[in-house]
Amino acid sequence: MKPKIAILATGGTIAGTIDSAIATTGYKAGALNIEVLLDAVPQIKEFATIIGYQISNIDSSSMSNEIQLNLAKKINKLLIEDEIDGVVVTHGTDTMEESAYFLNLTVKSDKPVVLTGAMRPATSMSADGPKNLYNAVALATNEKSKNKGVMIVMNDRILSARTATKTHTLNLDAFFSPDFGDLGYILDGKVYFYNTIEKLHTKNTPFNIDNLENLPKVDILYSYSDDGSGIAAKALFDNGTQGLVIAGSGSGNIHQNQKNILKDLMKKNLIVAVSSRIQAGQVVLSKEDEDLGFICAQDLNPQKARILLMLSLTKNNNSKKIQEYFKIY
Ligand code: SIN
Repeated sequence: MKPKIAILATGGTIAGTIDSAIATTGYKAGALNIEVLLDAVPQIKEFATIIGYQISNIDSSSMSNEIQLNLAKKINKLLIEDEIDGVVVTHGTDTMEESAYFLNLTVKSDKPVVLTGAMRPATSMSADGPKNLYNAVALATNEKSKNKGVMIVMNDRILSARTATKTHTLNLDAFFSPDFGDLGYILDGKVYFYNTIEKLHTKNTPFNIDNLENLPKVDILYSYSDDGSGIAAKALFDNGTQGLVIAGSGSGNIHQNQKNILKDLMKKNLIVAVSSRIQAGQVVLSKEDEDLGFICAQDLNPQKARILLMLSLTKNNNSKKIQEYFKIY
């Protein structure tokens, strides 16, 4: 019997259209529905039985906590069923790494979950969506894909949701894992694994979203020369933000103007995690900053640190305990 894969569509360029085969910009993302995406890849039916669901149809730059929660709940429900062997999510590439990491922390199954998308719209003469979708299903049906955490497949690369990031605005080869490399690659539908990522994921995290209707509010601020974003930090806090991620300079440094304001807000229970605006490498905090309660985001980029901080705040708001989560997940 062929493996059964659920494909959950959320929108993005893979479902994008424009009325020119040459155009690779200026299109409308999230214009086609799941049936049209599947019709473009009839070859998938040769090796898998597919069941499709439309979760949303948006440009992923407007992704929301609500859609991510719905997606995770739907995946958990599907993967409990014996007859479902794996899940593929089609997603816009702009925030794919955020949803992928969210699922990596909240899906409670070791069956494969694979995200894919496209850099060129479905109407383009060089559309990459169909091959990416074919590869994603090939990966989701592969026995070796179990218990690897959530994966991203783009341009034949297999990447971990924990480490992958979008590194090019327009190129087809837009996803990399700067410090840790690819998990493997797919060639003519054959899956080749080379690496694993040791960080805990899926069934081995404490984050259970099944009964959550919303998530704690966490925002991101950048650090830069002559930084005036302390005003924004105060405004966000007054507006209900419980956690902030700072995209610090270098190895996680914060402009003194900003830090003074953050220190005051932390005394009022704002939780602050420090990441870096640099694409690769670890954040290192001074003993003084650790003692003040700043959380080191390790190697997580700001947008992924935000995801982990939101989920951590569903468990507690103790910065020492949250720091432990950042070391493990
Ligand atoms: C989006 O993220 O929805 C648009 C961009 C893309 O999918 O490449």
